[in-house]
Amino acid sequence: MKDMLERLEDRRAEARLGGGEARIAAQHGRGKLTARERIELLLDHGSFEEFDMFVEHRSTDFGMEKSKIPGDGVVTGWGTVNGRTVFVFAKDFTVFGGSLSEAHANKIMKIQDMALRMRAPIVGLFDAGGARIQEGVAALGGYGEVFKRNVIASGVIPQISVIMGPCAGGDVYSPAMTDFIFMVRDRSYMFVTGPEVVRTVTNETVTSEELGGARVHTTKSSVADGAFDNDVEALLQVRRLIDFLPANNLEGVPELPSFDDPGRVDASLDTLVPDNPNKPYDMKELILKIVDEGDFFEIQEAFARNIITGFCRVEGRTVGIVANQPMVLAGVLDSDASRKAARFIRFCDAFNIPIVTFEDVPGFLPGTAQEYGGLIKHGAKLLFAYAEATVPLVTIITRKAFGGAYDVMASKHVGGDVNYAWPTAQIAVMGAKGAVEIIFRADIGDADKIAARTKEYEDRFMSPFVAAERGYIDEVIMPHSTRRRIARALAMLRTKEVERPWKKHDNIPL
Ligand code: HXC
Repeated sequence: MKDMLERLEDRRAEARLGGGEARIAAQHGRGKLTARERIELLLDHGSFEEFDMFVEHRSTDFGMEKSKIPGDGVVTGWGTVNGRTVFVFAKDFTVFGGSLSEAHANKIMKIQDMALRMRAPIVGLFDAGGARIQEGVAALGGYGEVFKRNVIASGVIPQISVIMGPCAGGDVYSPAMTDFIFMVRDRSYMFVTGPEVVRTVTNETVTSEELGGARVHTTKSSVADGAFDNDVEALLQVRRLIDFLPANNLEGVPELPSFDDPGRVDASLDTLVPDNPNKPYDMKELILKIVDEGDFFEIQEAFARNIITGFCRVEGRTVGIVANQPMVLAGVLDSDASRKAARFIRFCDAFNIPIVTFEDVPGFLPGTAQEYGGLIKHGAKLLFAYAEATVPLVTIITRKAFGGAYDVMASKHVGGDVNYAWPTAQIAVMGAKGAVEIIFRADIGDADKIAARTKEYEDRFMSPFVAAERGYIDEVIMPHSTRRRIARALAMLRTKEVERPWKKHDNIPL
C-alpha cells in the first residue's frame, strides 16, 4: 500500500513538472508564471482540485509516441474565488508550447461541460501555439468542439479569457467567443496568422507586438477588454471582476455587504456641469462619487473613450454603468462607442445586471468616415441592445441629450424604467445654434435676429422641462441626491418583469 501511495506521489510530482525544469526556468525567464502558479493566484488558496493530470496524447506520427508528458499541455480543474465555484483551464506553455491536441481538447471540453452543468463561471488562461502541428485534423476537430461549447455556454455562464503569452491560430477564436478577454502587456499577443505569414502574404513587416500585442487589441481592434502589467496583476483583477458577476444567467447578481450609505449626498455634484455647455467635465468623477465605495471595474477603458462602460455596486448589488464621456470627442456617439456599449449592455442583460446610464451626448458623429464605416449599423446595435434589454434601466441625463442619441441612450421610449434629468439637462433635437441656422436660415445675415432666435430656442428647448412636461423624464433631480435616487430606483425595480413574444432569437444588426 505504502508503495502505491508513493508511486502516486511520484507520478503527481512528475506531472506537476510539466515540460521540465529547464522549460519552467525559461518560462520564468520571460517574466511569465507557469500554468499551475497562475491557477494558484487566480483561485482561493488551496481550493484548486485538478482533473486529468495523467492524460497523455495518443499521437504516433512524427515519433510523438516517444514524447508524452502527463497533462498534455493544459492544466484543468475547479476551485473557488472568494468562496464561489469557478472552473479553470490553463495552457501549459512548457508542454509542446501549450499546443492543442485531441487529448488536450478533451480536457478542456470536460471542464466546459462541467462548468455549464454546474452553472458556474469558467476562466481560460492562454499561453499557447495553436493546433498541435503533429496531430493535424484531430487538433482542428478538438478546436471545433471547444468553440461549439463556448457558444452554447454564451449567455448562460460568464466565460473569461486571459491571454498571458502567445496566442495564435485556433487559440484566438475560443477567447473571441467568451465574454471578456484580458491581456498581459508586453508578454502576450493574439493573431490569427503570425508575422511570418503576414510577411509572405501581404509583404508587411510587423513585430508580434505590433500585430497583436495588448496595446493593439485594447486601443485599435477592441478584441481585448483590458490589459495589465504582469501575470499577478491580471489574475488579481480577474478575481475582482468575478466578484461582480453572477455565477449564471438565473442566479441574479451577487449581493455583498456595503458600508456605503445609499442615501449619501454629494454636494460637489451640484457644480460638476460647467456653465458653458461647450466645456467638458469628467463623467468618471460622477461615476466614482455615485457608486459604492468608489469601486468601479472598467471594461474597454482604452477603447472608444467617448463612452464609459463598467461594473460597480449600489447597495452591495452589481450594476452595469454606461456613460457618455464629455472629455473625449464631447461624448459623441460614433461606431466604436456604439459597438462597445452595445456589447456591454447585452452582457448585462443576459446576466440580469441592472444598467444605469449617465447621458451627456451631442448626437452621432457626422462625416464620411463614420457613414462609410457603417455608423447606421453600429449605432443600431446600441439602440437594439437597449431596446431589447429587460433588466432594470435607470437613466440620468446630466446635460446634452440631442437628436437620435437621446432616443438611443435608454430613453423612456426604448425601455428606460426610471428616467431622471439634472436641472442642467438639455433635451432637444439638436443644439440651439444648429437649430436656428436651419429653421431661421433667412435671418442668417442679421446677427441680432439670430441671437434673439437662439435665445428663444434655448429658453424653450435647452432644459429638461419640455421632456418632463410630457412625462419622458420622470423627475428633475438635484445632482447631489443622484446616488440616493439611483439606489431607490434600483430597489424598486428589483421585481421588474417583462414579457416578450416568443422568438428563436433576435436579429441584431451585426
Ligand atoms: C506543436 C509546438 C507548437 C505547435 C510550439 N510548439 N507551437 N508544438 N505544435 N503548434 C513547441 C515548440 O516546438 C517548442 O518545443 C515549444 O513549443 C516552444 O516553442 P518555441 O517556438 O521554442 O517558443 P517561442 O519562440 O516562444 O515561440 C512560440 C510560438 C511558436 C510563437 C507560439 O512556437 C510558433 O509560432 N508556433 C507555431 C504556431 C502555429 O503556427 N500554430 C498552428 C496554428 S494553426 P520544444 O520541445 O523545443 O520546447 C491553428 C489552426 C486552428 O491553430 C484553427 C482553428 C480555427
